[in-house]
Amino acid sequence: MKKNILLIGMMGCGKSTIGKKLAKEIGYFFIDMDEFIEKEENKSISQMFLIGEDYFREAEKKASKKLSTLEKTVISTGGGVILNHENMECLRKNSYVIFIERDICDIVSKVDISKRPLLKKDPNKIYEIYEKRYPLYEKYKDIKVKNNNISECTTDIINKLTNKEIL
Ligand code: S3P
Repeated sequence: MKKNILLIGMMGCGKSTIGKKLAKEIGYFFIDMDEFIEKEENKSISQMFLIGEDYFREAEKKASKKLSTLEKTVISTGGGVILNHENMECLRKNSYVIFIERDICDIVSKVDISKRPLLKKDPNKIYEIYEKRYPLYEKYKDIKVKNNNISECTTDIINKLTNKEIL
């Protein structure tokens, strides 16, 4: 059975864009976890956050269980999936975990705040979130790649997965 490839990292680090490109290049399916949750709950991420972050995190937990049964799929996660140990325990049973790192300055200048409920009130909160989460991304990763450029980063992932005989 082919393991899934799970992309983790901060919001705005490029998980979805790289995930789509990666899946296409290696012939895997692609799933964006936030989109999956939106369909499952029939609500947008913003609507879920209006109900409360706990509501979204519960939906994320349910989605982690469901997506862990997939095969041969590149899964791009939401930046906060690593906050729940159970999520990562079940997702990584069947996935190879890639931490996509991107300079926080690049994230700050490019991230679309209107689509990130956690940053809507105070965009500077991203620095606090980054500090808190960085050790968790490190903890759960199998490999880490730097995203300075989408194509180069995708190629880097493919090379690393090939070297580790994952592909
Ligand atoms: C979140 C990141 C978002 C989305 C939700 C919460 C987070 O996904 O899951 O807004 O806690 O970092 P992206 O990482 O795709 O922005």
